[in-house]
Amino acid sequence: MHNIKNICCIGAGYVGGPTMAVIAQKNPDIKVTVVDINEARIAAWNDADLDKLPIYEPGLDKVVAEARNRNLFFSTAVDEAIEAADMVFISVNTPTKTYGKGKGMAADLKYIELCARQIARVAKTDKIIVEKSTLPVRTAQAIKSILHNTGNGVKFQILSNPEFLAEGTAVQDLMAPDRVLIGGEQTEDGLNAIQALVDIYATWVPNENILTTNLWSSELSKLTANAFLAQRVSSINALSELCEVTGADVNEVAIAIGKDSRIGPKFLKASVGFGGSCFQKDILNLVYIAKSYGLNEVADYWEQVIIMNDYQKRRFAAKIIQTLYNTISGKKIAFLGWAFKKDTNDTRESAAIYVADQLLEEQANIVVYDPKVNAHQMQSDLNYLNTRSEEDNNQYLTTVSNPHQACKDSHAIAVLTEWDEFKTYDWQRIYEEMQKPAFVFDGRGILDKEKLETIGFQVYVIGK
Ligand code: UDX
Ligand code: ADP
Repeated sequence: MHNIKNICCIGAGYVGGPTMAVIAQKNPDIKVTVVDINEARIAAWNDADLDKLPIYEPGLDKVVAEARNRNLFFSTAVDEAIEAADMVFISVNTPTKTYGKGKGMAADLKYIELCARQIARVAKTDKIIVEKSTLPVRTAQAIKSILHNTGNGVKFQILSNPEFLAEGTAVQDLMAPDRVLIGGEQTEDGLNAIQALVDIYATWVPNENILTTNLWSSELSKLTANAFLAQRVSSINALSELCEVTGADVNEVAIAIGKDSRIGPKFLKASVGFGGSCFQKDILNLVYIAKSYGLNEVADYWEQVIIMNDYQKRRFAAKIIQTLYNTISGKKIAFLGWAFKKDTNDTRESAAIYVADQLLEEQANIVVYDPKVNAHQMQSDLNYLNTRSEEDNNQYLTTVSNPHQACKDSHAIAVLTEWDEFKTYDWQRIYEEMQKPAFVFDGRGILDKEKLETIGFQVYVIGK
């Protein structure tokens, strides 16, 4: 089964889109078709105007421009693409379950199962199936069972190839990954399938960075890597409050501990809380798996990372309310940023959503500016929480396309995303146009506190 000529990827989202674009760019002799049931999303991937790609990632437009319609195709014809492929990547979403057993914790595998059934139904030739989506350990077993019991008698090999790209740096992470991880069955056929995928990555990733393992190690490593990263953020966020009450400066502490080569400098930036589609979901998943094996202490240990993160978001909102004299009803509060981090238009689990929700409960008027997120997305994020009616969300949270418009006449500015452009604003002008006293709450630690205080702002920076 070596020598893959035709790849299909099911799911044209934040993972499938960029990953396939880079695989296609680096392997011009392999035809790569990315399929999705979402017609609008596929149309956007095919748009001649590269600014209209459905996801924003620095550098992605160039990669797509090079490979699209050469050997990279985006299509809604799912069955045809599966049938033609030697290798099928499953890159569909696996949200946390919102119902039934494991509600709020386990991953909802409904989309994965649908994919597996679809592959089984249409496949007429042997195929390698690659799990790209983050999945709970032993999902491969479920996929295997569906494929073998409902298929047309063709042979399937299942591989786990978790994605470690971070949004905002996806192209860079794909071009030069710290490692590529490929798990598969340790049988002759399994090892051959692993090698077929190794060959695809080896066209640009050095061999020593391509790790191969058994299926379960690969699946668990993905959850664990995210849990470790999130744990660092929660650890530094826990210290941020301690710094605030003791007079230590969390940035100085982060630099001091990060200089220890055993600890390292990355992922020690105190913030209003981590967001994104992976960290919370994967840890909840880990907790659920641990519990389901009766490992309660293990589950509690990891759950604390989430508890700390929720607390950090609440604490930031509470700080705003308390500083504004415990009354924000009817006050205009400007939000700079809505995305869960800079350089992405993704808002899943963004801290901004939860902070906004709490301020809206106190009847604030929130006006948001984010360079890449549109009003429709913000409303749907809020509505998803189901705290108040859609009409109320619409009325009390509005979106503008200019930062000055957001800040003008506001009582306070809250920085929720670390977009670089916020640092270069004309803060003197912003100050002049605001209500006094003018407050800034920097939830990302990106602004120059002393400079803002010299202008006249009252400034709160997380961890200071
Ligand atoms: C993460 C993993 O990094 C990636 O390997 C995996 O494939 C998917 O999940 P992502 O969620 O895209 O990637 O972004 P990441 O850069 O990890 O940031 C997650 C959240 O943590 C963001 O909200 C970010 O602002 C926050 N964060 C990160 C901090 O608050 N402080 C830090 O020091 C680092
Ligand atoms: P991720 O961040 O994991 O890439 P996204 O939600 O951005 O998640 O992307 C997942 C994509 O998978 C969505 O565009 C969704 O429409 C698509 N999808 C889900 N189920 C199927 C399916 N059965 N067939 C084709 N596409 C699917």
